[in-house]
Amino acid sequence: MDSILVTGNGALNGQIPIAGAKNACLTLMPATLLSDEPLTLTNAPRLSDIKTMTLLLQSLGAEVSSLQDGKVLAMSSHDLTSHKAEYDIVRKMRASILVLGPLLARYGEAIVSLPGGCAIGARPVDLHLKALEAMGAELDLREGYVFAKAPGGLKGGTYEFPIVSVGATENALMAATLAKGTTVLKNAAREPEIVDLAQCLRKMGAQIEGEGTSTLTIQGVERLHGATHPVVTDRIELGTYMLAPAIAGGEVELLGGRIDLVGAFCEKLDAAGVSVTETPTGLVVARKNGRIRAVDVMTEPFPGFPTDLQAQMMALLCTAEGTSVLEEKIFENRFMHAPELMRMGAKIDVHGGTAKVTGVERLKGAPVMATDLRASVSLILAGLAAEGETQVNRVYHLDRGYERVEEKLSAVGAKIERIKGS
Ligand code: UD1
Repeated sequence: MDSILVTGNGALNGQIPIAGAKNACLTLMPATLLSDEPLTLTNAPRLSDIKTMTLLLQSLGAEVSSLQDGKVLAMSSHDLTSHKAEYDIVRKMRASILVLGPLLARYGEAIVSLPGGCAIGARPVDLHLKALEAMGAELDLREGYVFAKAPGGLKGGTYEFPIVSVGATENALMAATLAKGTTVLKNAAREPEIVDLAQCLRKMGAQIEGEGTSTLTIQGVERLHGATHPVVTDRIELGTYMLAPAIAGGEVELLGGRIDLVGAFCEKLDAAGVSVTETPTGLVVARKNGRIRAVDVMTEPFPGFPTDLQAQMMALLCTAEGTSVLEEKIFENRFMHAPELMRMGAKIDVHGGTAKVTGVERLKGAPVMATDLRASVSLILAGLAAEGETQVNRVYHLDRGYERVEEKLSAVGAKIERIKGS
């Protein structure tokens, strides 16, 4: 298995291009199942999760071609051959559940494996199912699969999510585009990835109002047509690389970065002593004079501080002056990076969903283990500022969500290399 070797090498300077969003692309791809005409996505990220979704769609009989070195995905679901998403693919990636709504909406039936457990908590799919039931779906859970039927097609309905769920909102939104009548989704997720999905669906002929607010109103249409759509910038990759100069010092421009994607995160950076400036081409991030200051952080659905940046923010706060309190409100068990950061000399106390981080002057390099996608990149960030070498093992998680991380960080002066495993 590959590992990544990082050596603390001082300030970083230069530019890092930000890719299209993994999480947006993973919901835009299943949208192809809603139409028999082609859907083309540009600005797609080159990641292993995208390959997994490609395999899943191909297993259903969709054509998916990766063009321009993977940056363009040309898809067609003209001749689907199966309505069953098999366990063998679904178990690799939870986002596979996003084929359920589109398949059911277009074909009136679908069989989708339930995603298994996940390193960052139980993560059930009950809300995906309840929202589809509100549109008249008949569901039967057996043998580890959801057997879904909508004889006569889905019908518009009203559903209020008891908690905000990005995936369940996406599944319901896609399904509702082809349901008969009007669907109203209340307490819907407001993430930029939902806005991006709604914009793409509208290009395909869907009638949607309210994206970016907590109420989505969808007027079902008979059929959707083809479209071409650019994937929105990855706000989590953006936030991750914004932390690189914050941790290591220097000044880096994140090409394609936009403040509106990372507003709550920028407020915390400002409080910690990191400046963020908008330019015509992106965002410039620089560490202000002196040591990073402690700040308290609580994760929340968008527009709040994203859970997917919590691990990386913790890496920054490990060297802050003072004590920071991080509260994880979205997922239980999402502090697995804490013991690894402690191997590098960090002082962290975890109690349930709260971590107290008392900053130290400097972290020290150590061999550490990546436990999930965002945890792995937080260890790389920590390594950028640590004394000596940090070897991050088990980096297959990283390749699920960050394209060419070594290349992007080396280009701004980091000392980082991949060691090929056996
Ligand atoms: C998406 C993102 C993930 C991000 C998360 C929260 C993708 C592919 N992944 O995941 O990177 O961390 O949003 O911003 O876009 N829940 C239920 N029942 C459900 C669904 C969710 O109880 O049916 C719970 C979850 O366990 C969690 C909370 O709702 O506690 C939010 O999860 P959700 O927003 O659904 O996350 P995902 O869509 O899986």
